[in-house]
Amino acid sequence: MGLGETLRQQLAAKALKRQLERATDAAAAPGVPDGQAAQALSARSRFEAMPQFQQVKLMREMGETLRVESPFFRVHDGVAGATTQIGGREYINFANYSYLGLAGDPTIAARAKAAIDRYGTSASASRIVAGERPVHRELERALAAFYETDDCVAFVSGNATNVTVIGALFGPGDLIVHDALAHNSIVQGAQLSGAKRLSFAHNDWQALDELLTRVRREYRNVLVAIEGLYSMDGDLPDLQRFCEVKERHGAFLLVDEAHSLGVLGATGRGIREHCGVTSDRVDLWMGTMSKTLAGCGGFIAGCQPLADILRHLAPGFLYSVGLAPALAEASLAALECLLAQPERVAQLQARGRQFLSEARAAGLDTGTSAGYAVVPIITGSSLKAAQWANTLFEDGINVQPIFYPAVEEKAARLRFFICSTHEPEQISQTVAAVARLVGR
Ligand SMILES: Cc1ncc(COP(=O)(O)O)c(C=O)c1O
Repeated sequence: MGLGETLRQQLAAKALKRQLERATDAAAAPGVPDGQAAQALSARSRFEAMPQFQQVKLMREMGETLRVESPFFRVHDGVAGATTQIGGREYINFANYSYLGLAGDPTIAARAKAAIDRYGTSASASRIVAGERPVHRELERALAAFYETDDCVAFVSGNATNVTVIGALFGPGDLIVHDALAHNSIVQGAQLSGAKRLSFAHNDWQALDELLTRVRREYRNVLVAIEGLYSMDGDLPDLQRFCEVKERHGAFLLVDEAHSLGVLGATGRGIREHCGVTSDRVDLWMGTMSKTLAGCGGFIAGCQPLADILRHLAPGFLYSVGLAPALAEASLAALECLLAQPERVAQLQARGRQFLSEARAAGLDTGTSAGYAVVPIITGSSLKAAQWANTLFEDGINVQPIFYPAVEEKAARLRFFICSTHEPEQISQTVAAVARLVGR
């Protein structure tokens, strides 16, 4: 590709980025019906006229202008693990969260199949009205034991768990403070709850402490929400410090373990094992079944009164179908496997360390990654992230690029999810392939 062509693409990318910013702002702005022309009113009832649609269109055009193939919605032919088949070709795969390689495990699949034979494919209705299957409670008891809590409640979606639980527990007059890089489901839950929402600088417990010193007394209940391992940067909080801060200010603490369960700690017990913090210092242990646990859904582990409230009042539990029995069985089997085979956790951690150290040695920018399952390589622009991902794909490596506006433009990146089943050679081959792209 000539220098002129690259420059033209960069200019086009900048112009599109400005348009995208405008469309994003318009999508977020409240609608002001002018009520003047019938034409304008009829446009109000067409989805094409919505700023949100313009935003999607611009994102598509960006790919076309930059002549990069969309890396999204790729169709995998079979189980996606350390490797995957796409369009009949095999790739080394860094775009899945099956951190311990359990999503395609034959023993777990057999347990899920047996659950289908026994209970069918769906729970068909809400557990509170239509009843449960034994596996619902077995999974919740196993997770409660894992987290050393009184109880645990399982929901059908990890995303919906954060949204519905935060909304069920907090409302007007309360305060929700979250890490600036917290997952969208935490932010959405806080926004929809009607509570005041504030954020603090990423992983900065001192900033949280200062913020709560200033504003705590203005609110009734306060929730602090953080994650065990951040999926964009692969870094982690100092849980000990966050516990001290929340205890000092009389707040509840939610820790989202979506990416740290089975990943951190010598036996995969997550951020509390990594930081040497006892379970009871965190009020809400949130997690997803879609990652290490090879299924789908979310959970909250905590004290009995909390579980009682959620089972009886959280809309995402009460007014939603129970977890499909086969998925509950798959996650229960995955949890048992994690407990029985801690060597998987050790192997995952070794692979993460290898990726990080080889990438650093090659001069790649890995940001603040601690080398546990998530390692970004910062490319510096969305264009480069897209081009690098495409070239790697041609080389047989599947990795997702992250563009603006998901991250700041200069923080655009390739995001590598590492699992225990990656071979050391696959990691070395990948790092070498990325290193070759630098300075091209
Ligand atoms: C930190 C975090 N929390 C919650 C979720 C939502 O979980 P799920 O995809 O299982 O709905 C995700 C999803 O990736 C996540 O990264």
